[in-house]
Amino acid sequence: MKNTIGLYGLGVMGASLAKNMLNKGERVALYNYTDDLTTQFMEQFPHEHADPYTDLSSFVQSLEKPRKIFLMVTAGDVTTSVIDSLFPLLDEGDIIMDGGNANFIDSNERYQTLREHGIHFIGVGVSGGEEGALHGPSLMPSGDKAAYAKVSPILEKIAAQVNGEPCCTYIGKEGAGHYVKMVHNGIEYADMQLITETYQFLRYVVHLSPDEIANIFEAWNETELNSYLLKITTHILRHKDEETGKPIVDIIMDRAGQKGTGKWTSMNALDLGIPSTTISEAVFVRFLSALKKERMIAKDVLQGPIKEEIQQKETAIQHAKEALLFGRVIVYTQGFMQYKVASETYGWDLQLDHIAKVFRGGCIIQSDLLHPIRDAYRKNPALTNLLLDDYFKCLANDHQASMRAFLMDGIASGVSLPTYSAAMAFYDGYRAERSGAELIQAQRDYFGAHTYERVDREGVFHTKW
Ligand code: 6PG
Repeated sequence: MKNTIGLYGLGVMGASLAKNMLNKGERVALYNYTDDLTTQFMEQFPHEHADPYTDLSSFVQSLEKPRKIFLMVTAGDVTTSVIDSLFPLLDEGDIIMDGGNANFIDSNERYQTLREHGIHFIGVGVSGGEEGALHGPSLMPSGDKAAYAKVSPILEKIAAQVNGEPCCTYIGKEGAGHYVKMVHNGIEYADMQLITETYQFLRYVVHLSPDEIANIFEAWNETELNSYLLKITTHILRHKDEETGKPIVDIIMDRAGQKGTGKWTSMNALDLGIPSTTISEAVFVRFLSALKKERMIAKDVLQGPIKEEIQQKETAIQHAKEALLFGRVIVYTQGFMQYKVASETYGWDLQLDHIAKVFRGGCIIQSDLLHPIRDAYRKNPALTNLLLDDYFKCLANDHQASMRAFLMDGIASGVSLPTYSAAMAFYDGYRAERSGAELIQAQRDYFGAHTYERVDREGVFHTKW
């Protein structure tokens, strides 16, 4: 019997996905560029339907037609060379799925190039890390709809399930799936940063210990703030370093790494003209954190405020809780603004309720908030902005005062709250009747005769200043 799917790339994510497929009844051909990982896989997970290969041609020939090959290899040049090596071995109608964190522009190109040769390319955004890949990731596939129909039974089966629905749906044409995954990661950056700023506030303004903060986060996670990222943060804050017995967060170097998807999201926001300020700020904060040496000099020479103790600790904690919900709503608002404009710009017809549906389980940003987001876009697919939906309008109105109090306490204490600050500024800017751009326009006209529009009649005007 032929294999139903081939898995190319048996690193941590690929091996977990292969196990997931085997557990769901697929006959999986396995291949890795180097044989060691294939051998290791078979030793760790000997399964009657796992079929390892050391020769690429035999791997391909072992697959039923149309062949379905899932790539789980490093994004970029490695993916290109893997596709190049597979290409001569494939027949018309075969399907390549790329589960890496590919740049959507590369996926657009791969989709077009392979299409010209009758090969289908499906870019699959995959989220959920090792655990998700093994037990059910969130999947964001895109490409030809007819080709997707041939792989959907497998993808929807291995995806996370929420209320009986798979966290996998057809996203759109070309590289739309990788685009959706890219912005998912931008949202991930911003939500991680909000949680981190909340931690900083509770630790250095309210003076709570990591264990106490873990207890607070755990309680919050029983509310509408429930999310995977908040849950893992409680585990992290309770974790002690084995060598020193200290909280592990006090031992880890405070310099954030990044692989680039947050930066891509911000660059794309700039290209499309979307004010995704919280996401960009979360990227910039990682850059700032990397300036550790400079920060160590600055801390001794640059003054902060004279610190005053927070009097009402319980109130401050309540404000922080409401600020986190408010901030998270703004992050999602900006991410979904980006989806809306990208859909129009690239002609993808993205269904925003489907995106929210796919994010409800399996992925890193899964949270209870995705349910009302899905409802909002299901009720009104043409919704102008999430903040204008009834549910989110009320939520924002109810929480904005707490957000301000939280920010004022944090800033007065000299703690850096960049992503929260960006969220607040966006909110106030979005609801402003006069944005201030009238003065920008006047300045542009003054020094460069760039002209301006008037509020009282149509046309283009210039003043002799
Ligand atoms: C996911 C994650 C995953 C990866 C990030 C990390 O959805 O499963 O987003 O894709 O962990 O790319 O990104 P950084 O290394 O840039 O923080």
